[in-house]
Amino acid sequence: MTENIRYIGINDHKIDLFEGQYKVPKGMSYNSYMIIDRKIAVLDTVDRNFTHEWLDNIASALAGRQPDYLVVHHMEPDHSANIASFMSNYPGAVIVSSAKAFAMMKNFFGNEFEDRRVVVSEGSTLELGEHTLSFVAAPMVHWPEVMMSYETSEKILFSADGFGKFGALDTPDDNWADEARRYYIGIVGKYGAQVQAVLKKAAGLEISAICPLHGPALTENLKYYIDLYNTW
Ligand SMILES: [Fe+2]
Ligand SMILES: [Fe+2]
Repeated sequence: MTENIRYIGINDHKIDLFEGQYKVPKGMSYNSYMIIDRKIAVLDTVDRNFTHEWLDNIASALAGRQPDYLVVHHMEPDHSANIASFMSNYPGAVIVSSAKAFAMMKNFFGNEFEDRRVVVSEGSTLELGEHTLSFVAAPMVHWPEVMMSYETSEKILFSADGFGKFGALDTPDDNWADEARRYYIGIVGKYGAQVQAVLKKAAGLEISAICPLHGPALTENLKYYIDLYNTW
């Protein structure tokens, strides 16, 4: 994506219904990113059906190095299913996430990684070298533990489910708004007030790109997307 930020997510064409109820004829992407600096951070995992493909993406982006951090923005299983496999593959790595997310890890996996974690909250930062992640609490967008993060050197907002859409990234789709609207209404729209609260916080940031957990990274004309979110 940029010299030091790599896309390491996967496209799912096997899925018929997202969350068991939304038709996704063009598939789905589960996005994961890597920030490569003096420290290396992997941002979120992917659905359980793609463990090996994702670990392969990580290994090739690492080019022989070891990751320092796994940042977990959201615990829904399409993003969290591979936390344990990542942690056993990379015994030197530490999880960076919210207190609520660690409580969910205990419930989901029987492990809250007490010895291998950094608990972050609104305003916490994670220094990677030139790159720094600054955390923004985004409760109920779309679960209570959700955090977004803002990378201050390249001005990128990692927006979790916010600004996501249905459809795999390798399937042509020249109209972002249709499938993004359907995703928003189905998945996040019930929490419109919480989305508005996060958009208010984001309005104070200079943003050059938005990287969601589903669908393409948004790199230009960001006002168009933010205005649509305000409307929806
Ligand atoms: Fe979600
Ligand atoms: Fe999601």
